[in-house]
Parts: sequence; C-alpha cells; structure tokens
Amino acid sequence: MTANKIPQDLLIAAKTAWQNAYAPYSKFQVGAALRSSSGVIYSGANVENAAYGLTRCAEQSAIQAMASAGERQFTEIVIYTTATDPATPCGACRQILHEFAADATVFIANAQGVKYIFRVSELLPGAFTAKRLPV
Ligand code: THU
Repeated sequence: MTANKIPQDLLIAAKTAWQNAYAPYSKFQVGAALRSSSGVIYSGANVENAAYGLTRCAEQSAIQAMASAGERQFTEIVIYTTATDPATPCGACRQILHEFAADATVFIANAQGVKYIFRVSELLPGAFTAKRLPV
C-alpha cells in the first residue's frame, strides 16, 4: 500500500527514538513509536549486543514499553529509519505487533516521509494467535 498521511507526533517520537538506537554492530538505527488505545505514545529503539543474537528490535522495545506500563492495545505505529527503502518489521516483530493489535496501522517512514502504510494483519496473514492454543 502506498502512503499519505502520517501522524506527526508519532513521527517525531520515532525519530527521537531512532537517535537513541544502540546499533554499534550493524550501524543500522531503527526507531519506533506507537499510540496506545488510551492515547499515550510509547517509543523504542533497537538495542544491540556483542552477543548478536540478543539484539532487540525497535518495534519490540516500543511494545515492551507499552505492555510494561499496563497497556494492552495500540492503534498505530510509526517505524523510522534513514534507509532509502525504509525498513519494514522483521518476521518476529510482526508476530509481536500482532499480539497487541491485528488492526493497527503501520506507517513505514524515512527522512523523505512516509513510504508505506500497512495493517498489522496484512503484514502477517494467518498469524499464530491464542485462539490456536489448546483449551
Ligand atoms: N531491526 C529492527 O529494529 N527492527 C526490525 O524490524 C528489523 C531489524 C534492527 C535489528 C538490528 O539492530 C538492525 O536493525 C539490523 O538488523
């Protein structure tokens, strides 16, 4: 889906988070900011580790901040990088976003503005959900 309107407050928060990214190994900074259902903005950046596999993505950091504050739903998220073709969420992040809002809007942006808009469910068709757990 191609894009038009992006929430400016979320874009600003995502850019601020991007500045705080800890990415000394990949040098690829990512910032994410989401709006919870109660209207609060939570943001996060990628946080890498010398043991590379322990890296946390920006989307995960933002979701952790939201869930740790006791919130369980969000309506929209902006993911910001300076890549020419800006980064879409990795597979693991798609599942993590889906846990809290299959219907949320995902804005993918770079320094030129918003490039793509998706719905979380569109990014992860057939997602694993609690409905699939044994009863
Ligand atoms: N990264 C994210 O923060 N989000 C994604 O969805 C994909 C990748 C980070 C992880 C790592 O620090 C860097 O980008 C390069 O993979």
